[in-house]
This record gives sequence, C-alpha cells and structure tokens, in this order.
Amino acid sequence: MSTTPSTTEKTTEPVVVARDLKQVYTINRGFMKPSDHLQAVSGVSFTVQVGKTLAVVGESGCGKSTLARMVSLIETPTSGELLLGGVDVTKATEQERHALRRKVQLVFQNPFGSLNPRKKIGAILESPLEINTQLTAQERSEQARAMLALVGLRPEHYDRYPHMFSGGQRQRIAIARALMLKPGLIVADEPVSALDVSIQAQVLNLLADLQQDMKLAYLFISHDLGVVRHIAHDVLVMYLGHAVEQGEKKTIFAQPLHPYTQALLASTPGIVGTGATKKRMVLTGELPSPLNPPRGCVFSTRCPHVTAQCTSERPVLRELAGRKVACHLAEQFV
Ligand SMILES: Nc1ncnc2c1ncn2[C@@H]1O[C@H](COP(=O)(O)OP(=O)(O)OP(=O)(O)O)[C@@H](O)[C@H]1O
Ligand SMILES: [Mg+2]
Repeated sequence: MSTTPSTTEKTTEPVVVARDLKQVYTINRGFMKPSDHLQAVSGVSFTVQVGKTLAVVGESGCGKSTLARMVSLIETPTSGELLLGGVDVTKATEQERHALRRKVQLVFQNPFGSLNPRKKIGAILESPLEINTQLTAQERSEQARAMLALVGLRPEHYDRYPHMFSGGQRQRIAIARALMLKPGLIVADEPVSALDVSIQAQVLNLLADLQQDMKLAYLFISHDLGVVRHIAHDVLVMYLGHAVEQGEKKTIFAQPLHPYTQALLASTPGIVGTGATKKRMVLTGELPSPLNPPRGCVFSTRCPHVTAQCTSERPVLRELAGRKVACHLAEQFV
C-alpha cells in the first residue's frame, strides 16, 4: 500500500443513507378475516449530508411521519437499507442501536404534548444527561443553562414549568432538550406547523443558526413548501408512500417537473413559480386510500396530464434535468 498522503479531499460520510426503504403495516380486520397490508413507505431512497437539511414534503398520509419514525429508530423498516453514520440500523446490535439513539433526536409538531407539565425546564433539559452521561449535577445544570441561552431563552426560565411558556418558547425548549446530547441529526416532524406564522419564522431562523453552529443535519418534515423554502437544502416530495420528485431545493423550486410538485408549489402562497407552472395546475380530487393505491402512476387519478400509459404503468424514479422524477411525461415540462 502506498504511504504517500492522498491529495484527494476526504469526503465526510453522510449522516443518513436510505436505500429502498419500505414500511408495510399489517391491519387486522377482525377474527377470521384476512388482514390488509398498507404500504406507508414504498421504497424510498435518500441521503442527508452533515450540516444539511433534507425536507420531506407531501400531503397528509403520504408517509412522512413513518419515514421519521424509521430514521429515528422508533420503528424498524420492513425492508431496505438504512445507514446512520455508516451503521446499518436494520443489522445493528442492541448496543449499537442504543448508541445511535443518542445521535438522532426528535422534535415534534406539538410542543404542548411533548414536555412533561410537572417538570421544571431545568429538569427537562437535564434528564437526557442524567440518563446517558456521568456528568455531575453541577455540570448538568451548567449545560442546561448554557443551552437555554443558545436557543434564545432567559436564565430565569430554568425554574419555570412548561405551561408558563408560549408555543414558540415551548418549541425552543423542545429543541434545547433535543440538543442536550449533541446529536448529529435532528428529525423534526412538522416542528412549526402548530405555531403562528410570525413565530414560525423565528423558530426556523433558530434552527438555521443552530445548524450552522453545531453542524447539525435535519430531516425536516413539512406539508408546507413555504416553510421548506426557508430551511431546506434538498427536497423529497412524497405521494402515497412514493418519492415522486427529489433533488436540490433550488432546482425543484425553479422548475418542478412532477405534476404533483407543480400543484403543491402552485398552491403555496408567496411562491412564484414559472408563469406556466402557476397556471398549469390546481390540485383537485381526493387522495386515494393507501390501502388501494391506483394502478400505474400513484398520482394518475388526480393528474391533469394523465395518459393511458400513466394508468397502466408505474413510472420509475429517474434522473432528469438535475433531479430525480417519477413521471412518464416529465420531458414535456423541462
Ligand atoms: N401504526 C400504523 N398502523 C397502520 N397504518 C399506519 C400506522 N401508522 C401510519 N399508518 C398509515 O400509513 C400512512 C402514512 O402515515 P404517516 O403518518 O406516515 O403520514 P404523514 O405523511 O405523516 O401524514 P400527516 O401529514 O397527516 O402527519 C397513512 O395511511 C396512515 O394511516
Ligand atoms: Mg405525520
């Protein structure tokens, strides 16, 4: 082996690599009745790089939270590969999973439900340190107080209870708690959806600042492209458990190629798509049941461009114009 130092730049390992990730739920219909299978996530692949944000967007029921639960090790995928910091979660030992859990932390939509009302903020922040570290009470308290400052709360908040805070402040507390163990990845499931629009911007700015300071990666779940535009580096658009379009945010926002992405963008206030895109699509019709997804393209029942091929043949996700898209007709939108 050569001992000459390599001149090629060392590439850092992605925080998350998911390949063909699937989650299938078995639904029992009752005694002696056949059970149903619901594909909540149907073979999704993506990467989250160190210090970057991948936003997962799509309507209710498309599988966003299911994806979040798999990446945060709450659920094991039915199949596929999921690497966290290079370790395959599906093959990891219990000890490895325990170590991984410290590296991935969750922030939920509802900051009211996720904080124990009987504990003071100081105790809430120190709890992960108590469970997972050998730090003394004094050290834990110092770290909790430092974290309060980092998320824009005041020293006197240390001794207060969750009900004494506003929604935005509570979400700051939830973020602070998630950061206590210095994770590399935050999985944030609709973290600002329950907040007033003016407060949303403040929390998004905080998340962006923390990302810079702590080299954090985010898997950021949202149904709102207006929010995603502010925070994402990459975007994964999901529909009925499938990835329909994914790539760099700027590429997708500048020229969405999947009719579903076009519709989402067109229905987002404040986002000026290309004139043609704006006019082209308005999302109508009901979302099909994931228990009985359409044949062919999953979006075919609501797509204004639908052809015979779309209703019979499922389009594969393929490279086109700098991103991946799953649409037979995507060329005509380039
Ligand atoms: N434990 C479960 N058992 C059976 N089905 C489930 C389970 N969890 C989720 N589902 C179904 O899987 C699909 C995806 O759900 P998921 O919660 O991931 O969607 P979502 O995109 O997060 O939606 P929302 O925007 O409403 O939060 C839905 O059809 C849901 O009903
Ligand atoms: Mg959800």
